[in-house]
Amino acid sequence: MTIAIHESALIRHFNTRKEVLRNWEEHIGCRFSPFRGYKMPDSRLYVEHPDFLDSIVDLIITNERHIFLRGPVGSGKSTLMLLALRDLPTLADRRGNKFITGYVGMTGLYEKQMAAAIADSLRVKYRRSWESSQIIEAVAKESVRRYIEEKCRTALFIEDVADNQEAAFHKLRYLADLPTEEMMHEYPEALDEPIVTLIMSGTAVYWNAMLSFLPQIADRTEPLDVPALDDSKAREFIGRRIAYAQGRIDEFDPNNFDVYPFDEEAIRIINRAARGNPRDIRMLARGCQQVAAENLRKTGNPEVTSEIAELVCEAYATLLKEVR
Ligand SMILES: Nc1ncnc2c1ncn2[C@@H]1O[C@H](COP(=O)(O)OP(=O)(O)O)[C@@H](O)[C@H]1O
Ligand SMILES: [Mg+2]
Repeated sequence: MTIAIHESALIRHFNTRKEVLRNWEEHIGCRFSPFRGYKMPDSRLYVEHPDFLDSIVDLIITNERHIFLRGPVGSGKSTLMLLALRDLPTLADRRGNKFITGYVGMTGLYEKQMAAAIADSLRVKYRRSWESSQIIEAVAKESVRRYIEEKCRTALFIEDVADNQEAAFHKLRYLADLPTEEMMHEYPEALDEPIVTLIMSGTAVYWNAMLSFLPQIADRTEPLDVPALDDSKAREFIGRRIAYAQGRIDEFDPNNFDVYPFDEEAIRIINRAARGNPRDIRMLARGCQQVAAENLRKTGNPEVTSEIAELVCEAYATLLKEVR
């Protein structure tokens, strides 16, 4: 018996669309779509906010407060965390302490899952049979040992922190308050400052919830708002992505680059609709690419004009409202 394979309507459309997009990419010298998403951020695509980075670094160096990276979905909290996570182990604070980092990216965790996730992320050994308080105690002990013996502070990154079960916070709170009074008595010389810095993220709504439900942590935490991209940064966002897709990112000069085939006005229109949110800028730019690719096929012009941007932004306006 043979099975006849007919090219289905979906497959035909799928392949045609792909072809249209690829033609546009090739036309402007790109090897892939400049606006595809990445799981792991590449620091060469990152548009910097120098003042914002300074304020984070200052907080970490002075070691007096924990940090809450605050911003809407898509504003860049995770990206910043992952970049900081990568860089922090290569740095030292003003006392010469180095950093050991851990990252908890999953949310919706219960107490024990949170304890295990923290221990795993900091590479602290524990037994599966242990209670969450035993696991956290092991993390605390090891963090103290690392501080005293290796001159390493612990920086613990927790994504979308408020999305976890309430009980999980007690574990965080214990670590946030280290060293305990007892520990300080035991090592009066060596332990005179906090040894675990929490770097949490979440939306403004969650920060407010934390203020009322977890004042013990919130009082010692500095909320920092992830800045929105202004028009020149939105331009850089698009410029970097095009250069990246063209294989020219290592020669990218932030003071001198072009954004062809994007019209300057088109970028301003996109950024206004996205309100400076990088996730939304990317989504809108990809929408513009699709329309421009169709235009290229019909007229031979690959440009993303302000008309295309208007059209796409209008079409996405309702969608953006929904996902916000
Ligand atoms: N400063 C930035 N420069 C370039 N791209 C960014 C920047 N901030 C965020 N992005 C991109 O925007 C998207 C959303 O960022 P993400 O960090 O996941 O946001 P959040 O965690 O706040 O929801 C990702 O594709 C990321 O690569
Ligand atoms: Mg995130």
